[in-house]
Amino acid sequence: MDIVKSVEFKGGKLVLLDQRRLPGVKEYFYCENYKEVEYAIANMVVRGAPAIGAAAAYGVYLAAREFRNYGKEEFFLKLKEANRILLASRPTAVNLSWAVKRMEKIMEKEEDWDVPEIVDILKDEADKIAREDIEINRSIGRYGRELVPEGARILTHCNTGALATVGYGTALGVIRAAFERDESIHVFATETRPWLQGARLTAFELREEGIPATVIVDSVAATLIRDGKIDLIIVGADRIAANGDTANKIGTFMLSEIAKNFSVPFYVAAPVSTIDLELDSGAEIEIEERAPEEVTHIQGIQLVPGGVNVYNPSFDITPHENIDGIITEKGVFRAPYKEELTGISLL
Ligand code: MRU
Repeated sequence: MDIVKSVEFKGGKLVLLDQRRLPGVKEYFYCENYKEVEYAIANMVVRGAPAIGAAAAYGVYLAAREFRNYGKEEFFLKLKEANRILLASRPTAVNLSWAVKRMEKIMEKEEDWDVPEIVDILKDEADKIAREDIEINRSIGRYGRELVPEGARILTHCNTGALATVGYGTALGVIRAAFERDESIHVFATETRPWLQGARLTAFELREEGIPATVIVDSVAATLIRDGKIDLIIVGADRIAANGDTANKIGTFMLSEIAKNFSVPFYVAAPVSTIDLELDSGAEIEIEERAPEEVTHIQGIQLVPGGVNVYNPSFDITPHENIDGIITEKGVFRAPYKEELTGISLL
């Protein structure tokens, strides 16, 4: 059972656990229309690639519900425009466009639909995407735990748990599955500056699960790895190009370089919906740059003097050569990734 529900559709509303305020305050954000969903994604009320995908799917449904009294042609045009707005809310996690495309595809399949009927079908599809996410993560967990040695000391970055998905988690799902079998594992969670997903969210989830964990400042990772105190690294992903290059939280690339240098296995855990076969390599992945205030301020307190330049990319690209395996719900893929990944069906 998950200790938190990050994304849930209840009482006609999309209910999101507001991740901006955790772990101190457990507050919910209610979306009654797609513009509120767009706001929630853009402002990190909901975050983490799979959670963003599920929220966007409900966003499409809420837009359809809003337009249900229009004639078929106008309904379709308005929905397309709403989808375009949802798609622009965050650029890097491909799960967002994957979910919106899947919602659009259902309409193409049902050629003879009338508007109220398709609104109901879209609700069912959004529910399906949310339900499936939990099953997918459990499967990632089952495959991934086979790679975790007994008593392993695992380093993870950012938050990839129940909060970043509809439930259970991807990289954190692997850790949970490993812990279900072996309580002697230990997790090192990077703080993950500037948004502190590791310190605030991963640490919260691990504590609630009773999984032994230590939070480290991001820059401690190299020392721990060099000193032989980390057995493997598992991270999530926001977009994986066809050649295996992976976009994930800023700092992931640096960890992968250190891991390679000290021969520590480095794994990526993600659903196949995170794989973007339209992109040949990571060079084509758009990297989101977020507001300077994320760096200059912490919880409203200014740390960096005003007028100083800030560069705040939210993600980086880990080259496929640094990745020992990509753990998905369909199994673990290894190099050569191009051959392995292009063979899988993504929908
Ligand atoms: O900016 P965020 O918090 O949405 O970034 C999240 C990550 O980078 C995660 O590692 C990734 O989305 C995988 S979540 C299962």
